[in-house]
Amino acid sequence: MKPHVSVLEKERIFDFSQHDFKAVQRLIYEHAGIRLSDAKHDMVYSRIIRRLRATGLSSFSQYLTLIESDAGEWESFVNSLTTNLTAFFREEYHFPILAELLRRKAGRPIRIWCSAASTGEEPYSLAMTALDVLGGQADKVEIIATDIDTSVLARAEAGVYAAERIEKIEPRYQRYFLRGTGSRSGFVRVKPEVQQLVSFRQLNLLSPDWPLEGEFDALFCRNVLIYFDKDTQRRVLERFVPYMTPDALLFVGHSESLLHLGDLFRLRGKTVYELRGHGR
Ligand SMILES: C[S@@+](CC[C@H](N)C(=O)[O-])C[C@H]1O[C@@H](n2cnc3c(N)ncnc32)[C@H](O)[C@@H]1O
Repeated sequence: MKPHVSVLEKERIFDFSQHDFKAVQRLIYEHAGIRLSDAKHDMVYSRIIRRLRATGLSSFSQYLTLIESDAGEWESFVNSLTTNLTAFFREEYHFPILAELLRRKAGRPIRIWCSAASTGEEPYSLAMTALDVLGGQADKVEIIATDIDTSVLARAEAGVYAAERIEKIEPRYQRYFLRGTGSRSGFVRVKPEVQQLVSFRQLNLLSPDWPLEGEFDALFCRNVLIYFDKDTQRRVLERFVPYMTPDALLFVGHSESLLHLGDLFRLRGKTVYELRGHGR
């Protein structure tokens, strides 16, 4: 019987040794905290092969040498290994909780940090919620949206999306988009009043320096902790504490539990946490 050969293997034209794969696993783990399991071998191959083609190199080992000295290519390497899946109003049950927080703090400055913002759907959903709840007072809301990946941040800043991405969102939020016509038909653009509330900047949650100051009333860290191991999660989440106002809320993703961090955070709602010291 013939051994099973996947399509990917048949197409493989560059040698990607186990040694190369281990080097990629180590580099991205040390830099970004992202744990790539052995099952991600083919995914890593297909993503990095594009960088080999773009740089004109003929082997993975040459590429791994290049990224040691070329900062621009290092950035592309990191960008190529992130997973950026997101959606407008993803995990909708969080939004009424945010709306309630906004109502409670209406009239005062409100700061929100969206720490794995990907292509922008999440911070813009937060901004639309603020406009919906606060109307004219939403100008007191500041949303700082960060991500490690510079290519998704550029797309987020542009604020242009395929129209189908907003098809399923509530009609009251659809009014915050401009619909493209002519050559732009099939695309929508986030309105300036929404964009005004959000500023984007690059931030690696693992980096020792975070370009951020002050405290936040709400912190979104959704669907990124799953890529980190428990030690890394603790290291990152401990550093959130001084960035949170005493009554701040921390929102994490549906499969991310902070129960192993019970000394720091207390469950407030479905995957929503508050500081353990709050209300003592
Ligand atoms: C799956 S997306 C989640 C996007 C959004 N938070 C959501 O829930 O829809 C994960 C994002 O985390 C970012 N990311 C991964 N590692 C990171 C790190 N070390 N620091 C900051 N962002 C990181 C990725 O670039 C990606 O955009």
